[in-house]
Amino acid sequence: MNLECRKFDALVIGAGGGGLRAALQLSQADASVAVVSKVFPTRSHTVAAQGGMNAALANVSPDNWHWHMYDTVKGSDYLGDQDAIEYMCRAASHLVIELEHQGVPFSRLDNGKIYQRPFGGQSQNFGGAQAARTCAAADRTGHAILHTLYQQNIQARTHFFDEYFAIDLLMDKDGFVLGALVLRIETGELLIIEAKTTLLATGGVGRLFRTNTNARINTGDGMAMVLRAGIPLQDMEFFQFHPTGIAGKGMLITEGVRGEGGYLLNGDGERFMERYAPNAKDLASRDVVSRAIAVEVREGRGCGPDKDHVMLKLDHLGSEIIKKRLPGIRDTCITFLHIDPVEQPIPVFPTAHYTMGGIPTNRYGQVVVPVKQSPEEPIPGLYAVGECACVSVHGANRLGGNSLLDIVVFGRAAGNHIIEFLRENRYHRPMQNAQDSIDRALARLARWEQRREGETVDELRKELQKTMEFYCGVFRTRDVLEQGVKKMLEIEQRVAQATLRDHSQVFNTARIEALELENLVDTGLATVVSALAREESRGAHSREDFPERDDQRWLKHSLYYQEQNRLDYKPVRIKPLTVESFPPKPRVY
Ligand code: FUM
Repeated sequence: MNLECRKFDALVIGAGGGGLRAALQLSQADASVAVVSKVFPTRSHTVAAQGGMNAALANVSPDNWHWHMYDTVKGSDYLGDQDAIEYMCRAASHLVIELEHQGVPFSRLDNGKIYQRPFGGQSQNFGGAQAARTCAAADRTGHAILHTLYQQNIQARTHFFDEYFAIDLLMDKDGFVLGALVLRIETGELLIIEAKTTLLATGGVGRLFRTNTNARINTGDGMAMVLRAGIPLQDMEFFQFHPTGIAGKGMLITEGVRGEGGYLLNGDGERFMERYAPNAKDLASRDVVSRAIAVEVREGRGCGPDKDHVMLKLDHLGSEIIKKRLPGIRDTCITFLHIDPVEQPIPVFPTAHYTMGGIPTNRYGQVVVPVKQSPEEPIPGLYAVGECACVSVHGANRLGGNSLLDIVVFGRAAGNHIIEFLRENRYHRPMQNAQDSIDRALARLARWEQRREGETVDELRKELQKTMEFYCGVFRTRDVLEQGVKKMLEIEQRVAQATLRDHSQVFNTARIEALELENLVDTGLATVVSALAREESRGAHSREDFPERDDQRWLKHSLYYQEQNRLDYKPVRIKPLTVESFPPKPRVY
């Protein structure tokens, strides 16, 4: 097949905050940059981030980056790599100010400084009083950041391929990544984008679960591409459930509600977080609050006729604060629940939110894999940032407000490293050496065209999401996880036989959904297999049969390889760059 080919210095797949921040760095350095996005860029999932971005600006409470680092390490349940965490927390203030200068309309304090609200797991002075570290643009911070970065990229002349779907990475025989095969969704045309570097910024995989806060696009595309290229995924067993999704529906109600002074009540009208986290209460880290809600409901103290949720009360904040600081969640409640939180509490329950694991990278965004004795060797030409990557700054549990920070910090870092790489690698490598991977990517598409009978994509996706929710949710046991692995392997087989149905009427969007389903299967298996193997409870991974954290056996990152569902492990980097490390200790809030 003769395929059209376009050449760029750098290819960025995904136009959320991570991809756009990297692209901006590159375009401003005069590299030619292609950004491929399966949706119009400002519809990328960063747009949905509500509460804000952490940085120790100290505008509201005393603060410094070292306290932020401590909180992040503790929040990660000591699985985060402390060199990467130090790098991120040190860079944070500078990058918030940079965003402000680029045009992000942050909310303001009366003195004109950037408004900061308290968020979960934040403290002053290494575990002391609550800090207020989250820089916010009302409760639409991601929206503000994404639009600003998009406009900056337009000005910098980044080339956008809007509504193009990346099918697979193209790799040559020496293991260099040379670009990707992409499909133009409107027409079905295929295109090879050749690039000296490829950066994956494709976001997380929240659509693995039936009830989630994620956009429909969050199907783990970049992670699955990496698995198919023989590269492992790291720490996939750690999936964050946000404590306050709208009960039964899943939409996000920002932690900013609790930051502004809202709190949770059970069916007895009790402020139950006081029992689970006597100091931080409703602002304990997310894993702690989500588990507490699940326990309250399980033990019969839920609200509503089915006692299946708890209430988030905020009417006492007053309508002025709610309308000024939380207008987005008020709109959401009015639209989807016909409830005005100015007057009534919001029914909430934990909802799948964030993928802590992902593509293993170093702090320059290079994708790294263990090779022989070395735990980390870069894959030449391949980078990843943001939720699809695991650098790892979030470890076993991410703190709210650290994801917008992560994408900006490591998007910029990857951009800078790519600029160096381009200086030393001035020519494209010959694409004919990647013919095998082109053929494999084409075959992936062709399989769906050939099958005429079988189960539909829609049926199977629903079953997959129910399976993941039931067998790999907030609480886990060996027995349940084993059944989960078995069911996911069956679904994998069935997806291999599934069909697009009536081929005369298939829209390209249906083809995309089929490819996305394959990506969900690949990343779902990575998640449940990794979860079964980890016999301890740490952060968001809560094993009822192994209720304690076990640093002796499990203070290590998992690496899942698709081939034979194999697992390997690598050490956690406890040593920071310049300061003393924070050794693991019991985690109480
Ligand atoms: O609750 C929130 O606003 C979510 C923030 C985050 O996930 O960082």
